[in-house]
Amino acid sequence: MAGQDLKALADRAATEIAAAADEAALEASRVRYLGRKEGALSEATKKLASLPPPERPAYGAAVNDAKIRIEKALEAREAALRDAALARELGQEREDLSLPPRRVRLGRLHPISQTMREVSRIFATLGFETVEGPEIEWDYYNFEALNIPPGHPAREKWQTLWISNPLGDDPSRPILGRTHTSPMQVRIMEERRPPIRVVIPGRCYRYEATDAIRESIFFQYEGLAIDEKLTMADLKGTLYAFARQVFGSDRKIRFRVDYFPFTEPSAEIAFDCFACEGKDPNCHVCGGDGWIEAAGCGMVHPDVLRRVGYDPTRYQGFAFGGGIERIAMLKTGAPDIRLFYQNDIRYLEQF
Ligand code: DAH
Repeated sequence: MAGQDLKALADRAATEIAAAADEAALEASRVRYLGRKEGALSEATKKLASLPPPERPAYGAAVNDAKIRIEKALEAREAALRDAALARELGQEREDLSLPPRRVRLGRLHPISQTMREVSRIFATLGFETVEGPEIEWDYYNFEALNIPPGHPAREKWQTLWISNPLGDDPSRPILGRTHTSPMQVRIMEERRPPIRVVIPGRCYRYEATDAIRESIFFQYEGLAIDEKLTMADLKGTLYAFARQVFGSDRKIRFRVDYFPFTEPSAEIAFDCFACEGKDPNCHVCGGDGWIEAAGCGMVHPDVLRRVGYDPTRYQGFAFGGGIERIAMLKTGAPDIRLFYQNDIRYLEQF
């Protein structure tokens, strides 16, 4: 093949390549012209050795030119085919803007968590700091330090879930699921010196059958204030202020004498029944009583103060403890405490 023939070959190849319809056609052209075994150019290269030396440089250069032109043509066509394929693909893809969007479902706090936060918030406005404590408790804090030694009849009031002690089953140091948040009174007083103003929301456990207003796992809030000149009037004022913030001024509050071993005197707070407002003698919420017991309270017993090393002639204090679920029920009108824990999203998402 002479130099001109090589140029003609390259022209033909370029025309053919530019017209290649797809990748397969392009590949066939590559093999035909540049293929190592039978490609037209390798045939030409093989001829190089048989030429007389003076002719070799010019011929070699011509082969090289042809090769470069064919390679460029291949590259250009390959890019063109790729662009066309991409354009076709993009042309077919369409965003369907008429599709309804997927709803983003934002979660929210459980109504009992909401109530706990509200209780904390309201007591914060009255100067009380929120503190938390252990749910698994020593008998000592749950009972003994609160003037309820082993064998004391008041223990029957708190049906207890006892736990076998993982720290060696030492029967002299029994542990339990705390039956109320009151043990935190003692823990806080052991840790701090007066003045103290704390509120402790938290989970409690009782070995008890459930009904419309009782659960075996439930939440309480505990309040404790210790200072030098606190009286029953401070206790009443604090709880009235709290009740008014939670329920508004309409809800009636009953404050009357009660007994708890760790307060003296002790009192009980009740709200008028939200379900029947005292009108239904068969009411399944209040049992026809018209009142729902909401909290126990009183002045911290001098023996409790002495046990943590406080001088009761110098310090006095008041304490109170009530059920979080009862507040949530009063606020939402929920007729049954169990609704909060059945985890039916249709019920819970209303709040
Ligand atoms: N812990 C008591 C209970 O669960 C309620 C209670 C009564 C708490 C009197 C107090 C208190 O702080 O002073 O039944």
